[in-house]
Amino acid sequence: MKLWGGRFTKQTNQLVHNFNASLSFDQKFYYQDIEGSIAHVTMLAKQGILNEEEKVAIIDGLISIRNDIENGTLLFDEASEDIHSFVESNLIGRIGEAGKKLHTGRSRNDQVALDMKLYTRDELKEIDELLKQLLHTLFHVMEANLETYMPGFTHLQKAQPTTLAHHFGAYFEMFKRDHERLQDILKRLNYCPLGSGAFAGTTYPLDRELTASLLGFTGPTLNSMDSVSDRDYLIETLSALSTIMMHLSRFCEEIIIWNSNEYQFIELDDSYSTGSSIMPQKKNPDIAELIRGKTGRVYGSLVSLLTTMKSLPLAYNKDMQEDKEVTFDAFDTVKGCLSLFEGMISSMKFNTTIMEQSAKNGFTNATDAADYLVNHGVPFRDAHGIVGQLVLYCIEKNIALDDMSLEEFQAISPVFQEDIYESISIKTCVEKRLTIGAPGKEAMKQVLAIYKEYLYNEQ
Ligand code: ARG
Repeated sequence: MKLWGGRFTKQTNQLVHNFNASLSFDQKFYYQDIEGSIAHVTMLAKQGILNEEEKVAIIDGLISIRNDIENGTLLFDEASEDIHSFVESNLIGRIGEAGKKLHTGRSRNDQVALDMKLYTRDELKEIDELLKQLLHTLFHVMEANLETYMPGFTHLQKAQPTTLAHHFGAYFEMFKRDHERLQDILKRLNYCPLGSGAFAGTTYPLDRELTASLLGFTGPTLNSMDSVSDRDYLIETLSALSTIMMHLSRFCEEIIIWNSNEYQFIELDDSYSTGSSIMPQKKNPDIAELIRGKTGRVYGSLVSLLTTMKSLPLAYNKDMQEDKEVTFDAFDTVKGCLSLFEGMISSMKFNTTIMEQSAKNGFTNATDAADYLVNHGVPFRDAHGIVGQLVLYCIEKNIALDDMSLEEFQAISPVFQEDIYESISIKTCVEKRLTIGAPGKEAMKQVLAIYKEYLYNEQ
């Protein structure tokens, strides 16, 4: 059944109906649509716009529709234009006259604005739970690896030694910010558009405070024109989701590198890897690659919606119906990626000996050798030059700094003494870095205590 048609003399062209219809995708928020209608009807009755009997009949009808959708006995029929028409016409079919009063004081414009907000709020909470799980997993890896030494990189060249805990801590910070971004968005979006009508409010004495509070909102939105045409909250949602994907993708890139034959820092679990149809020896990091790949479609959703919105005059325009598929796809993609990623991380093995060896082989302690000279009175710029010579010497001989004899050290600078070995051991290099945020164990422990408080007490 159509919600309109009185002023038309011809049937809608079938292709026009198909092109215009959104039921195939907005059926996703049938639950929220019914939730919103129940609150609306409750408020209408309280305001004396509907009587008690009508209210009960409508609410019972709506609940039976929801149950029938959920138990599979009510199928979405293509004849309805969207989920709003589908539920309303079904309600009228079930309860008759009272059903025709459901839409009193409401437009599909404020209805869809509400449904999408409710749906987004639910999805953001689910995504946030997954983020929190990931933060817990990262935290456990950190706790267990405060002394797992590895090279840190700049320009993808070995730079200075660090620890696995420190490296994972960088991602902990990123996902922590992502979590806080979602919390911010949830606060900002939590105002109820219902009662804004088509865009100019309504002449019925609606109690917008009541519907807002029944639906768990902080309050009603304050401009009815903006209420039906605001999609900012989706844009910032897609922006925050894009940032989550960007973080996951960077992490995946590192996992792919660390899992390569050349690095072998980690080994992905068999259950999170795939094989090749031709090369029997292959064990591929497809999951990490797919997450990296899917980042593009979430960015695409953001750019798509920004573009859809950019020249829309106030208030509602049908273009806005295009907000749904891209946003739904982004929600599903991010949820899938977060849970797969968490599983991949918690099942992978760290080859800690190879990591430490790699830190030793890459001159990651060269800065510390220069610092040693500085501590013995050599100006830093001269120390830099001297250690440069040491490195060149080692490259020619294919050895690490630690492998040089004291005579070899002293041939380049007499300042070096026996204690140079202790000063440039990877362990010393890391453990001396004790400024807050640095990889030294004692500094990391302080940060872990803050994270622990954050994970277990602040949320
Ligand atoms: N399916 C529509 C959407 O998603 C619902 C709102 C229809 N409003 C209208 N004025 N045609 O935007």
